[in-house]
Formats: sequence, C-alpha cells, structure tokens
Amino acid sequence: MKAPRGTRDILPGEVEKWQFLEGKIKRICRLFGYGEIRTPIFEHTELFLRGVGETTDIVSKEMYTFMDRGERSLTLRPECTASVCRAYMEHKMYGDLQPVKVYYVGPMFRYDRPQAGRYRQFHQFGVEVFGTEDPTVDAEVIALSLVFFRELGLSEFELHINSVGCPECRSSYRGKLQEVLKERVGELCHDCAGRYEKNPLRILDCKSESCRELTEGVPLMVDNLCRECGVHFEEVKKALDVLGEAYVVNPRLVRGLDYYTKTAFEIISPVLGAQSSIGGGGRYDNLMSEIGGPDTPGIGFAIGLERVLLAMEAAGAKLPVGNLVDVFVATAGVPGEIALKLVMELRAAGVAVEKDYMGRSLKAQFKFADKKGARFLVILGEEEIAAGQATVRYMARGEQENVELKNLVRYLSGLVEEA
Ligand code: HAM
Repeated sequence: MKAPRGTRDILPGEVEKWQFLEGKIKRICRLFGYGEIRTPIFEHTELFLRGVGETTDIVSKEMYTFMDRGERSLTLRPECTASVCRAYMEHKMYGDLQPVKVYYVGPMFRYDRPQAGRYRQFHQFGVEVFGTEDPTVDAEVIALSLVFFRELGLSEFELHINSVGCPECRSSYRGKLQEVLKERVGELCHDCAGRYEKNPLRILDCKSESCRELTEGVPLMVDNLCRECGVHFEEVKKALDVLGEAYVVNPRLVRGLDYYTKTAFEIISPVLGAQSSIGGGGRYDNLMSEIGGPDTPGIGFAIGLERVLLAMEAAGAKLPVGNLVDVFVATAGVPGEIALKLVMELRAAGVAVEKDYMGRSLKAQFKFADKKGARFLVILGEEEIAAGQATVRYMARGEQENVELKNLVRYLSGLVEEA
C-alpha cells in the first residue's frame, strides 16, 4: 500500500521543519495582530462554486467532491478564503471590532497533475483581513508575507502586483478585450478558447507561448481602471514604496480564483522552477456578499508551505534537524527499571532523555547516543550504582565526571539549561 498520488507522509526528522515554520508563523502573526482560525477540512460544495467561481480550473477540474451518506455534496477545501468568509458570516464576526484579522495553517486539496512543488494535498499558511478597504492594509498584508520569507532566510523573490479592478470597470474592459481578441479566438490554446466567453482576463496569464504572442499589445486592465480603483492602486503602490518594498507591476497577473477585485499579487521564487509561485493573494471586496453575507471588503494571501521548504533547501537556508535528545542514559548490568526511573525523573525535570530498549552492548549504546545527537551521556554500571554514583560524559569534549546519584537530576538539568 502506498499513500495516494500527490500526497506525502511527513515523518519524524522532517516534521521539525514544519514545526519550525509554524513557530515563525505564530510569532509573526501575533506581531501583526492576527488571531488563528481553524475551519473544517470539508465544506458544502456550494461554498466553493459560489466563492471561488464555477469557471475556474480549481472548481471545474480540481475539486475533491463527494456525496456523504446523507446525500449532501461536500468538497475537501481547495483553498481557505471561502471557508474563512463563511465562518465570518456564520459567527456574525461583522459584529466584532473591525477589522477582523485571522490566519490559518493547514492542508488544502486539489486534483492537479503532481510534480515537484505541486501536490494533491498541500499546506497553506494564509491570512485574511475583513472590514476595511484601506490601501495601507493591502500593503501591510503584502509586507507580512515578505517578512515571513525574509525571516526564513529567503531573500530571492519577486513581488508582482496588479489591479484587476471592480465589477464596473472590469465589465467594460472585458468587452474591450473580447473585441480585440475576436478574430484570434481560433488560434488560442484549447483552455483559452473556452476562457474567451467565460473569463477572458485569464487569457492574459496563460503560460502558453502562442497565447502570449496573440495577446501582445492588447489593452490592459491597469490602463482601464475606474477612478476609484485607479486611486486605490496608486495608494497601495505608494505605501509599498514607503515601506521600501520593491515590486513589479505585472499587468498580466490575473490569478486563478474569480473573487479578486482591485489588488492582486503573487510572490515568485526564481529557485523553484516551473511551480515558481510561492504565494499569492489579493483583495476580494464582493466575495462575502456573493456567498450571502453582508457587504464586507476583504483581503488576504496564501503561501504554499511545501514550496517554502523547497525554496529554503535550494537557498541553503538553515532548517532544524529533528529528533535530538539532550541526554542518553547508557546502562550495563543494571536492572531496566532503574534506568526507566532515572529517565522519568529527568523528563519530569525538563530534560529530553533516551535509554536503550534493545539490549545493546555498552559500546553499541554509545554509538546510538551519538547518532541521536545526545550532548551528554550518563553511564550507569553495577559498580557506579554500588558507589552511589554515575558517570556523566560530555560528548563534544570527550571529558567525563563522576556525579553523586542523588544529585544527578539537578546536575543534568543544570547542564542542559546552560547548553
Ligand atoms: P492560490 O494562488 O491558489 O491562492 O494558492 C496560494 C499558494 O498555494 C500558491 O502560490 C502555491 O504556493 C500554493 N499552492 C497552490 N496549489 C498548490 C499545489 N497543488 N501544490 C502545492 N502548493 C500549491 C489561494 O489559495 C487563495 N486562497 C489565496 C488568498 C487568500 N487570496 C486571498 N486570500
């Protein structure tokens, strides 16, 4: 039996890297005033149909949708923004102090073709802010994602930003774009031919070379924004300038979810190869009302954590190695329960400690302790016990000392605290 295609086990030794990321996320989100939210792994399918949009690849091709035993259509969440909006609405969080700022970390599911950096179950860290259209919030949300990357030692990334306008300016722009592309529909790739009617803006960020050539020189959304959207975009850029954050205005950036309005952004990591988008997000001022909630503006992003780890490895960034113990208790000819009692006492004193469970020779226990990364070795033999003492060896220096058994726990917890 193997794990399903596109899913992966995270084993001890690797899980520490995830815990490290989660620790950074928790710390940064607290600094930025975000509270954690945990929503269900599955939702009513309807939420994503209305939220993410029926014409998107995510909804039309990539959802894990199933009927439960009560004949309800449910879907494993392909993303979390729609779920968080649903929770905001359901728990009447519009009655709380605004803006409401939340973050999440967890698995998402998309039936996509697996390859390096693309999985069917993957993990996102995301944030969402509700209740304000203030452009400095857009800049702050973008800045939070960049602070996270830098905190991890990732400095090589590109921030792409765009404005995808509002329903008013987008609908007149959409007509303009369709008009220009009318004669070229037959030459577009299969996917884009379908997008022409349903979502022509998406044609602009198609990766195919020929679609790119066919759309060379077409009118762009950024040049067709209404006054309000234009001013908003200028303010977002101004705030990023003040923060000293470099960005590229990429007028072809549309993103694969239908809910965006005004600001859209993506962070590209050049070390990642084909799946170079390490995170992305934007504003979604109409999503809440589209899923039946009160008119509430929102903005957020999500970052793919598998891609973050890949980028960190490629950049040679420091990642913790897991499963280390402080102390190993090696025994020779000593009843097992004596060693067990000692390790339990040490653990109660906050020392991470291991012992032998395999009947290994003393020499084999030393080797094992070294492999486990133990910094201190306690050697308990018949003679030591008789003398009321244990030998404590400092692994790095190779020196050792005799310590009274009755002082051993205090002695070791002192050493570990110092180290
Ligand atoms: P998204 O661009 O679909 O946006 O996903 C965000 C990030 O998740 C991507 O940049 C990528 O790093 C990661 N990702 C997506 N699909 C996969 C996959 N199959 N395997 C590995 N990583 C993947 C959203 O999901 C929006 N909800 C973001 C957002 C929040 N917008 C506003 N608020």
